[in-house]
Amino acid sequence: MNKNRIVLGIESSCDETSVSIVREKSSSDQEILSNIVNSQIKLHEKNGGVIPEIAARSHSMIIDQLIERSLTKAKIKLNQVDAVAATAGPGLLGGLIVGVVAAKTLASVLKKPFIAINHLEGHALSAKLEHQIEYPYLLLLVSGGHTEFTIIKSFNDYKRIGTTLDDALGEAFDKSARVLGLKYPGGPEIEKYALQGDENKYIFPKPIINQKNCHFSFSGLKTAVAQKVAGHKKINKKFKNDVAASFQKTICDILEVKTKNAINEFKKIYPNKKVSIVVAGGVAANQKIKKIFFNIGKENDCNIFFPSLYLCTDNAAMIAYAGLERLKRKKTNSLTFAPKPRWPLDKDAVFLKGKRIDV
Ligand code: KG4
Ligand code: ZN
Repeated sequence: MNKNRIVLGIESSCDETSVSIVREKSSSDQEILSNIVNSQIKLHEKNGGVIPEIAARSHSMIIDQLIERSLTKAKIKLNQVDAVAATAGPGLLGGLIVGVVAAKTLASVLKKPFIAINHLEGHALSAKLEHQIEYPYLLLLVSGGHTEFTIIKSFNDYKRIGTTLDDALGEAFDKSARVLGLKYPGGPEIEKYALQGDENKYIFPKPIINQKNCHFSFSGLKTAVAQKVAGHKKINKKFKNDVAASFQKTICDILEVKTKNAINEFKKIYPNKKVSIVVAGGVAANQKIKKIFFNIGKENDCNIFFPSLYLCTDNAAMIAYAGLERLKRKKTNSLTFAPKPRWPLDKDAVFLKGKRIDV
């Protein structure tokens, strides 16, 4: 067998700069030696969202330091690294360029392979860093930019079975939080306020819930929250708590119905396989959503996996790990690989944003 391979991974697709070192332990196990994350939340808070140019500048100012810190924490010398992986899409172009150029430079100097990673593949595989999960499994990816059900048939073989027709789920949390006057990012804020709210106080719409498919639509929900706020005289803490709790409950109801549809889709392809569901991406940090999924697991006899919190939100460990899996299969890239702001995980998936689906 080869010596235990070491991959340095870089993530810079949105508002987190991160560098990680992952080392292979055996053919099916690996360890995270370091995973340094610099969040830009403070930088973007005052704008209520990510400004791409500000994000890119911040990535470029800190990336060198993070590479050094990550190597030091891992107690690894640069020349021990076997390959350099970076998120090459999807994401904000300026940030992607910073990470990809840094990775290509290191790879070129070290004369080691460069590996371009799809950020969504990083999230899709993130739970495998901590759990032994057999292929095929059902992935629900819920982040600030993406919401999709994808069947992870095996490594590099992905079939999307559901997506959002408009906003991503994290985006719905962020936009609803914003109209409520809560801080950015809105997801953790909504979760915090919801703890003290009455989740049955307000009824919000559940768009396309009755369609027997695995697609989502969240933009009407944000509009409904905005209308509730506009029509309410006293926007006090209690009102915010109740709206947050009712919003979160609505999301959980939608996820429950659509996940059952996705389980049925999975079973059509794999009738004899016990279903394993992996929930990944920033929104998977939500404890109420996590609870709902463990109930779904019990009721439908499915295994449920959530990555630890630090692996749910953007991080380079999942990128280094995806890089390791690619290196093992000799799936490396040329130094001419250009970052791709749009890069679906399932290349055959039809782009459905803004489309009407009548089922
Ligand atoms: O995966 P991620 O870190 O970045 C993207 O690739 O988008 O996800 C960020 C998203 C944000 O929209 C944020 O509001 C949401 O994840 N998020 C949450 C929670 N923590 C982060 N949403 C709901 N509840 C949370 N606790
Ligand atoms: Zn992400």
